[in-house]
Amino acid sequence: MARMHCFGVIGDPIEHSLSPYMHNRAYAVLGMTDHHYLPFHVRPENLAEAVLGMRALGIAGFNATIPHKEQLVALMDELDPMARLIGAVNTVVIRPDGRLIGYNTDGYGFVTALREVFAAALPGVELLILGAGGAARGVLAALLAEGADRITLMNRTQDRAVTLAAQFAASFPGRLITAQPWSATLPAARLVINTTSLGMEPHADPVPDLSGLPESALVYDIVYAPPLTPLLHAARARGLKVENGLGMLIHQGARAFEIWTGQAMPVAEVRQGLRAERGVSSLF
Ligand code: ATR
Repeated sequence: MARMHCFGVIGDPIEHSLSPYMHNRAYAVLGMTDHHYLPFHVRPENLAEAVLGMRALGIAGFNATIPHKEQLVALMDELDPMARLIGAVNTVVIRPDGRLIGYNTDGYGFVTALREVFAAALPGVELLILGAGGAARGVLAALLAEGADRITLMNRTQDRAVTLAAQFAASFPGRLITAQPWSATLPAARLVINTTSLGMEPHADPVPDLSGLPESALVYDIVYAPPLTPLLHAARARGLKVENGLGMLIHQGARAFEIWTGQAMPVAEVRQGLRAERGVSSLF
């Protein structure tokens, strides 16, 4: 019997993950009938055991989502430079000899998706990132790798933004990375990226005032469910360009697919399938 190639995604919770659909759809389109991708519900206290179990079972690789990305770093035998910079792992290769190689494809996914809707060169462009958690780290690292040099971080808890800005400023000398207190009005920026759950909690806070953004601004929210977050809704009402995080999700998966299989994910078919069969789509 031909060797099976088994992959999966771990998270807590996991039932809403679209990754199994995306990868299995790609296998089907490419006729890779010996490839399989499954969701695994792994609680934080079982992470190390789950990773050893996957290695023992001969699983070839896996993705990780909330809350495992940061904890996985310490469990890897080798780290890709981007995973080291971000301090989080979302894609793991389990080599035939059992070695665990950690990658982070979230930043790549973000930049690739951003490039589909924002073509301007990043140096000189004023960028504003809302949030200072794990997702903000991935976005910040990817933007800096693309040459961004004027970045403001704004976070509800300002200390976290100050720490993040200082850390990346040390790794990228010459770039202007500043933290500013959370304010009800956003500072002028050509590109605003929201990495927070702003306005989505049960007792939603008001979204910030967008009147200071230039007409040419793009507002990008890394969330894709709902497709139009309160922030994107407000931005669209002002006539600004908006995009949600579905493209980021697809492209981080496409990069993982390529790392594991050496083949390009059929992105157009995966995107079309997500829209037709899962009811999720981009805004552009
Ligand atoms: P993630 O990995 O998704 O970034 P995280 O590390 O928990 O998750 O970070 C969540 C981010 O969303 C933080 O920047 C958080 O702000 P605080 O550092 O002040 O907690 C931000 N956030 C969550 N709810 C928010 C809200 N209602 N308004 C503004 N920011 C919010």
